[in-house]
Amino acid sequence: MARTVKVAVTGAAGQIGYSILPRLASGEIFGHDTRISLHLLEITPALKALEGVVMEIEDCAFPLVDEVVITDRAEEAFDGVNWALLVGSKPRGKGMERGDLIRENGPIFVGQGKALGKAAEDVRILVVGNPANTNCLIAMHQAEKEGIPRERFAAMTRLDQNRAQAQLAQKAGVEVGDVTNVTIWGNHSATQYPDAENARINGRPVPEVVGDMGWLRGEFIDTVQQRGAAVIAARGLSSAASAANAALDHVMSMEGTTPEGDWFSAAVPSDGSYGIEEGLVFSFPVRIDGQGGCGIVQGVELGDFALEKIAATTAELQEEKAVVAELLK
Ligand code: NAD
Ligand code: LMR
Repeated sequence: MARTVKVAVTGAAGQIGYSILPRLASGEIFGHDTRISLHLLEITPALKALEGVVMEIEDCAFPLVDEVVITDRAEEAFDGVNWALLVGSKPRGKGMERGDLIRENGPIFVGQGKALGKAAEDVRILVVGNPANTNCLIAMHQAEKEGIPRERFAAMTRLDQNRAQAQLAQKAGVEVGDVTNVTIWGNHSATQYPDAENARINGRPVPEVVGDMGWLRGEFIDTVQQRGAAVIAARGLSSAASAANAALDHVMSMEGTTPEGDWFSAAVPSDGSYGIEEGLVFSFPVRIDGQGGCGIVQGVELGDFALEKIAATTAELQEEKAVVAELLK
């Protein structure tokens, strides 16, 4: 066995936790020659439920699982981890926007950012809990003070990317794998800009293949922006299997699985690219940088339509940042 990967999952007794843990433990994500150590964090009242989840992991008899740590102490959960998937937080209900969760969920990421900085070193962090971009901003800010480089942080927009890819494949009548270079710009919210105009189908520009700009600039964008709400309206609960799947896709992309010429979407701290305020956690097209983080793909063409959408989502992120200013001190 070449190595052991230590992965922390917060909110591990929740819906997403239930979908993500068996797949992490199975070897599907880090490879069948890599052992895995799971560090699971929950709030104290949920530890009992988490014990039940751990029983189920044991009962799967996964051969690669080294240990499963369960705790309600963030520093213990993050001790020496290579990956931290920050899921634990409240989901929105019907009729809410994700940003409505900011006051309740934001403070969680102050303590967890600090704990990460104290307990982990060579770690990559994915924030899933909503509002994901701004929670990531908070955790990143706190962890950076303890020495974790900001490039190690991302908030999840991979679910939006996957949704966009699936919609485009359906419309064009092709396989999902034929659709590449899909970018989600901005916030994981209803202002995000899912960019089909720079996406490709079997190497050809999507607008050329689909031939329906009205749909690409209308229904397609609305569907992707509103997909989370549509799932909540139908299921009465927010997406879980698809969210867990997207988080794992993100991890695999960060571990180096993106084909040459393609990119993936993740909300990362802006370095000023595309005129986005430095430090704002903003979804861009990214590729791994070979140093544990990812770099923003440069030179993607943005016309007036795209720039207007990007301005709207930027303004929303700046508003969210202002709301949590106290948590960024
Ligand atoms: P859930 O309510 O089923 O589970 C959340 C879990 O987090 C609960 O078990 C809860 O006890 C735990 N928790 C709460 N506070 C915690 C803390 N301080 N430390 C550790 N654990 C804590 O919710 P879910 O469906 O698993 O969703 C979790 C979050 O992920 C929500 O905020 C949801 O909106 C978000 N989400 C994001 C995306 C995305 O694409 N970025 C997609 C789906 C869901
Ligand atoms: C999603 O996009 O499905 C999640 O962010 C959950 C939500 O609140 O929509």
